[in-house]
Amino acid sequence: MFRLNLSLFNFVITIFGFFILNYRIHNSQNLNDFSKNERMKISSIILYNRIPKTGSTSLTNAIAYDLCAKNGFNVIHLNMTKNRFAMNIIDQASFIKNVTSWSTRLPAFYHGHVAFIDFSKFGYPNPIYINMVREPFERLLSHYYFLRYGDNYRVGLKRSKADNNETFDECVLRDGKDCQSKQLWLQIPYFCGSHKFCSDIGNRLALETAKRNIVERYVLVGLTERMQDLISLLERILPDFFNGASPHFLSMGEDRKNLRHTLRKVAPSEATIEKIKSSQEYKMERELYDFVASEFENYWNRVMDQNGKTSIEMWCFSIESLKRAIKKAWDEMSDEMIARVVDTWPSRLQACIDADGEYIE
Ligand SMILES: *[C@@H]1O[C@H](CO)[C@@H](O)[C@H](O)[C@H]1NC(C)=O
Ligand SMILES: *[C@@H]1O[C@H](CO)[C@@H](O)[C@H](O)[C@H]1NC(C)=O
Ligand SMILES: *[C@@H]1O[C@H](CO)[C@@H](O)[C@H](O)[C@H]1NC(C)=O
Repeated sequence: MFRLNLSLFNFVITIFGFFILNYRIHNSQNLNDFSKNERMKISSIILYNRIPKTGSTSLTNAIAYDLCAKNGFNVIHLNMTKNRFAMNIIDQASFIKNVTSWSTRLPAFYHGHVAFIDFSKFGYPNPIYINMVREPFERLLSHYYFLRYGDNYRVGLKRSKADNNETFDECVLRDGKDCQSKQLWLQIPYFCGSHKFCSDIGNRLALETAKRNIVERYVLVGLTERMQDLISLLERILPDFFNGASPHFLSMGEDRKNLRHTLRKVAPSEATIEKIKSSQEYKMERELYDFVASEFENYWNRVMDQNGKTSIEMWCFSIESLKRAIKKAWDEMSDEMIARVVDTWPSRLQACIDADGEYIE
C-alpha cells in the first residue's frame, strides 16, 4: 500500500509539471503580435454588434445587464444614429481610440447596432467579438410587424408604421417597400463591415467576407433559435464575464427570455413564403445563417462529446478527470516501471532532505 501511494504521488507531480509547462509554452506563443499590455487590455473588451430583431435585447439583458454588477464589468451601449449601422472611417477611428484608451471602464461589454469594425486595420488588436443570427425570413417578419404593432418591451411607444395595419401578405401582393426581399439583406452586411460592397444587395463578396469575418474575428456566433445553448457556451468560453449566465437565463421567466415579443404577427401564406424564399437575397442570407448554424452545431457537439471533453476538463484540473487520467496511466504502466520508480524514491527523498526542502534537480 505504501509503495503504491508513493508512486501515485510521484505521478501526480509529473502530471502537474507537464500541465504547467504546457500552459507556459502555450501562452508565450500568443504574445507575438501585440504587446502583453495591449493584449491584456483588449482581452477584457467584448463587442456584441447586435442585429435588430434577432432577440438581442433578451441576450444583452441575460448576459450583460443582469450579470455586470456580480461579475464586475461595465456595460456600454453604442447609440448609433438611426438606421446608420455602418460607421464611416473617421467615426471608426475615433471609436477605436475611445474604446482602447478608456481604461477606467475595463473590463467592458459593448453592444450596439453597428456593422463589424476591424480594429487591426487601425493597428489595434480586435476585441472579443460575439454575435447571434436568426433565420432571415423570421427576422424580416418580426421586423415588419414590430414597426406596426411594437412589442411588449416598450408598450405604448408609437412605432413608425403604427397606423398601418397591412399584413405581410397584403404588402407582398401590392409589392410594398418594406416587405421586399431586399429587406432581408441585413445580417450579411453586419458581419461584412462598412465597405460599400457589403451593402450591395446580392453581392457575393459581401457574403464571403461575412463568412470569413465570422471564422477569423468572432469567438462565437450563435442562433436566436438556440439562445440557451449560446449562453451556456459563452459561460464556458468567457467565464470572467458570463459566470452564472446559464442558471440565470434558465431562471428567467418566459416573458423575459423572449423579452421583445412583437405584439401581432400574422403567419404568411404559402405564396408569400414561396416568393420570399425563391429570391436571391433570401438564398444568400440563408446561406450565411446555415453556415453559422453548422459551425455552432460543430462547436456544440465537440464540447458536449464525452470523448472530446477530457481536454477541456483537464485544463480546469477537475478532480474527476484527473482521477480518470491517473487511473488510465496507472493501468498502462508496467510492473517493471513501477518498481523502478519506487526504487528511486529513497534517493529522491534524500535529495530533498539534503536540499533542506529547497528546489531539487
Ligand atoms: C440615442 O440617441 C438618440 C439621439 O441621437 C436619442 O434620442 C436616444 O434617446 C438615444 N438612446 C439611448 C438609449 O441612449
Ligand atoms: C469615450 O467616450 C465617452 C462617451 O462619449 C466619453 O465619456 C469618454 O470620456 C471617452 N473616453 C475616452 C478615454 O476618451
Ligand atoms: C385596417 O384599418 C382600416 C382603417 O384604418 C380599417 O378600415 C380596416 O378594417 C382595418 N383592417 C384590419 C384587418 O384591421
